[in-house]
Amino acid sequence: MDLKIRGKIALVTGGGNGLGRAIALGLATEGAKVVVADLNKNDAQKAAKEIKSSGGDALAIACDAINPDDVDLMVQKTVEEYGTVDILVNNVGGGFGTSFVARTFIDEWDKTIEINLKSAFLCCRSVAQVMMKNKKGRIINMSSVSGRQGEPLIGPYCAAKFGVVGLTQVLAKELARFDITVNSVCPGYVFTPGWEKLAQSLKEAHASFAAKSLEEIFETRVKSVTPLGRPQTAEEVASLVAYLASEEARSITGQSISIDGGIFMN
Ligand SMILES: NC(=O)c1ccc[n+]([C@@H]2O[C@H](COP(=O)([O-])OP(=O)(O)OC[C@H]3O[C@@H](n4cnc5c(N)ncnc54)[C@H](O)[C@@H]3O)[C@@H](O)[C@H]2O)c1
Repeated sequence: MDLKIRGKIALVTGGGNGLGRAIALGLATEGAKVVVADLNKNDAQKAAKEIKSSGGDALAIACDAINPDDVDLMVQKTVEEYGTVDILVNNVGGGFGTSFVARTFIDEWDKTIEINLKSAFLCCRSVAQVMMKNKKGRIINMSSVSGRQGEPLIGPYCAAKFGVVGLTQVLAKELARFDITVNSVCPGYVFTPGWEKLAQSLKEAHASFAAKSLEEIFETRVKSVTPLGRPQTAEEVASLVAYLASEEARSITGQSISIDGGIFMN
């Protein structure tokens, strides 16, 4: 796309797989130096290696994004290696199974809020210290179509992703005077390792899915709810994130941008 992000320092959480991996690669293609942070060190290293083998600059960091000490250490290591953080992508997140709210276990609720919302809060809190000193920065938070409209059976996930949208708006207002923009992206359906896990839990919980493959469960869901009738690709989401991270997007803040084939319409 040739966006103005060459030489910027980007930190991507959950960058070892799925959307995070595509976002890390996409930012690197645009010339950013990328810190790939992930709970799974091997996956972070694989993604960083991929970036380096195509001529980019990357560093892999093992980090649990819901642990405040780990998050602070991740930011400290990034600053030690590259001098600063210009772009933060809070990508970590996901759901844990499906159940009616009335039957949701408390630990399932807590885990979902932690991984989707607390992780974004902790990373924003830590990176904001650096960006406020720099008087510039870009923060992109991963929400979802489930952060725009309620869906049965994924109550904790919807609540967390609506929370991400709220956090984004608050931070956009608080950080605007430091010339830091904060936006969220709201994808629909992308077939990632995370979605495979969800399809597996649907297969186990519902007799109507028992004979279907994970891909078929995904496709059935996509077709039934998406006006454009097709899923999104991780690369499409990565392109939107790269744009929001660029100089070109300097006037966009506090927005939650849907990339979902038309499922949610404002
Ligand atoms: N896949 C979709 O259809 C879709 C749609 C809308 C929103 N999203 C959101 O996009 C984001 C990425 O989704 P995905 O499907 O690519 O997920 P994924 O499960 O395929 O990958 C998530 C990555 O995050 C890492 N991770 C998990 N917990 C972590 C932690 N505590 N600290 C650090 N790293 C951790 C995992 O190791 C993995 O590499 C999530 O926030 C998800 O809610 C996904």
